[in-house]
Amino acid sequence: MREQLAKIREEAMAKLSAVSGSAELEELRVRYLGKKGELTAVLKQMGSLSAAERPEMGKLANEVRAAIEEKLAEARTEVEAKALERKLRAEAVDVTVPGRAPRLGHRHPMYVALDEMKDIFIGMGFTVLDGPEIELGELNFDRLNAEPGHPSRDWSDTFYFDRDERVMLRSQTSPMQVRAMDTMPLPIRMVAPGRVYRKDEVDATHSPMFHQIEGMVIDKGVTMADLKGTLNTVVQQLYGEGTKTRFRPHHFPFTEPSCEMDVQCHKCGGAGCPTCKGEGWIELLGAGMIHPHVLEMAGIDPEVWSGWAFGFGLERLAMRRFRIDDLRLIFENDVRFLEQF
Ligand code: DAH
Repeated sequence: MREQLAKIREEAMAKLSAVSGSAELEELRVRYLGKKGELTAVLKQMGSLSAAERPEMGKLANEVRAAIEEKLAEARTEVEAKALERKLRAEAVDVTVPGRAPRLGHRHPMYVALDEMKDIFIGMGFTVLDGPEIELGELNFDRLNAEPGHPSRDWSDTFYFDRDERVMLRSQTSPMQVRAMDTMPLPIRMVAPGRVYRKDEVDATHSPMFHQIEGMVIDKGVTMADLKGTLNTVVQQLYGEGTKTRFRPHHFPFTEPSCEMDVQCHKCGGAGCPTCKGEGWIELLGAGMIHPHVLEMAGIDPEVWSGWAFGFGLERLAMRRFRIDDLRLIFENDVRFLEQF
């Protein structure tokens, strides 16, 4: 029996020293100390011992139990510490690992061109206005001298919301002239960029939605010379000093006289090339002196005040600025295209 106890003790100590996990630990506890364990099995044999041997063996058995219990507790502490260490190592965050850089977007080329325009006009004391894309027919047409029946009001040219032509997607930013006249104190110097809509099929130069920028000045004694001077200044800043412009007579219902302004072709310098279709000039904008009747309809006395206005397409401006040859590229938003700017 003595040998049995010694063997159990020796074996238990060795096994507990090499224990690696809590499951194994529990297994060993049951094996040595459990009700059906090895130590209990030995104690059950006590009955066969003599009265003299019994206390001695009892004492020895208790010592073995105490030793195993102590070792068991020791092993448990160790197993738990190891588990905690493993967990901490697994969950550790290395704060020195470089972060994953977020992909930064950038400005659309057309808005780059627009911002340049705005800077130029703000520098000359203009206010930048924003207005609705869903506009009253009254402001988009009537108050701009395009009475019912005017060809620009044709249903095939614009988008209406109702049969009475009262509400529509604005076909130009020019109604912002009327909105400015109705709300701003005189004198007025404003530009108004924004989206406009026309019933056009998409191709290399057309889109049912595009952008314009409107400009208007109303003051005392304003003449066509101011219009030419201002627009020439803008063109010099946009396309470089020495860039030539020319003004051609044209017709718009809300200006009198009206004109279109061309810029000398940046590619050929005026000699004629495919970019300017052999003309040497590229059309940039429509402009003119505000029609006296338009001023009158806004309650502004044309005998006292006069003004000029202009309007042009921002896509075309951006296309020329960044040498883009197809309008569709501006709207498709293909990142491979956009990333080039
Ligand atoms: N709104 C005109 C268009 O869409 C452009 C225009 C012409 C605007 C003359 C003006 C202007 O302000 O005076 O074709």
